[in-house]
Amino acid sequence: MSQSKKISPAQDAAQLAAATALAPPIYPATVYACGSPQQAADLLAGKTEGFIYSRDGHPNSDMLAEQCKAWHSAEQAAITGSGMAALALALISQLKQGDHVLLSHQLYGRTLGLFTTEADRWGIESTEVDTCNLDAVQQAVRNTTKLIIAETIANPLLHVADIEGLAEIAHASHARLLIDNTFASPVVCRPLESGADLVVESMTKIMNGHSDVILGCLCGKNAAWDRVSLSATTWGLFASPHSCWLSMRGMATMDLRVRQASSSAQEIAERLVGHPAVSELHYPGLPDDPHQPLAQKQFSTIQGESCYGNMITLCLAGDHSCVEKFISTLSPEIPFCPSLGDLKTTLSHPESTSHRELSANQRKQLGIHPGTIRLSVGIEAASDIFSHLERGLEAIA
Ligand SMILES: Cc1ncc(COP(=O)(O)O)c(C=O)c1O
Repeated sequence: MSQSKKISPAQDAAQLAAATALAPPIYPATVYACGSPQQAADLLAGKTEGFIYSRDGHPNSDMLAEQCKAWHSAEQAAITGSGMAALALALISQLKQGDHVLLSHQLYGRTLGLFTTEADRWGIESTEVDTCNLDAVQQAVRNTTKLIIAETIANPLLHVADIEGLAEIAHASHARLLIDNTFASPVVCRPLESGADLVVESMTKIMNGHSDVILGCLCGKNAAWDRVSLSATTWGLFASPHSCWLSMRGMATMDLRVRQASSSAQEIAERLVGHPAVSELHYPGLPDDPHQPLAQKQFSTIQGESCYGNMITLCLAGDHSCVEKFISTLSPEIPFCPSLGDLKTTLSHPESTSHRELSANQRKQLGIHPGTIRLSVGIEAASDIFSHLERGLEAIA
């Protein structure tokens, strides 16, 4: 019997479709057939290209990883079941008992919890520091420091990390720099190009952009990758084929979405300057924002214009009742959703969501007030978004 006769009509159709379909297929298979015991052994040892068991790797995850690598100019990428799983992968692959990690004090709350309370249980020490103050970072480095972690644009006051400066300090101390780029996305910033060793993205946010997938990725340089693939497989941090496929669809429009939302955010922030109902305004694209020069240096330009991302944070001049009124007036056009990066403009209230576990004093020290509102600008027309905001602001004036 000739070799071709062994291929069933179903396999024929699948091969033809794979070669010509405009959209990529979903491969839900948990396991793949092996040609021989030797091939199985080689696949499991990673000596041969191919698939055997989907916790170790599957085509949808590989396709998505290739896109993340390209966006971040990364040598390596791993797709994980959530942004937190990508951070957990960084923890278990980069640190061991006795190591020290230096954390931006403005990291996402769950990230702080992971690298303090959780990591402490494994004998890993941590220090929180204002990573916007490079002198403070330098002073906090120990000879056991193996990792420094900051966010490109920190939540919720949108402080911008000096990635080159942090990388210099990390590398002089034989440590690595991990940047969480979730608030920026690779359209706005590519931290590996500025010297970071590892980048995390919560793809749940603007990278996928449709609020229908929880997914993360860890991208990095070869030198930081020794243990990453094995750790991901052993700890079972894999992402489902369906989620990867949906994220590929989301990422197909990421560039367009991020550009549109960033340009609207710039326009809206400029129109909010000096508004009597707004006591503070944070947007790195505003000329008076203290982070603007650094943002301009590190962030991408699009058609000659710098791109500062889609997040704006403002503080309402008023008490709790103003916050309630503002939020209810904006709903349902701008819903209160404690996430970010959707197609639609949403808002969040850090005091009652992301920073609720801090004491009032800790929040005050970070600059978070009861009236602080974080806006995630979507892809609607800027004028429409602004008129909704104006309605909310008028209601509390
Ligand atoms: C900056 C940042 N990093 C990481 C995460 C965690 O991502 P995920 O929800 O996909 O686990 C979040 C979630 O809000 C985040 O805001």
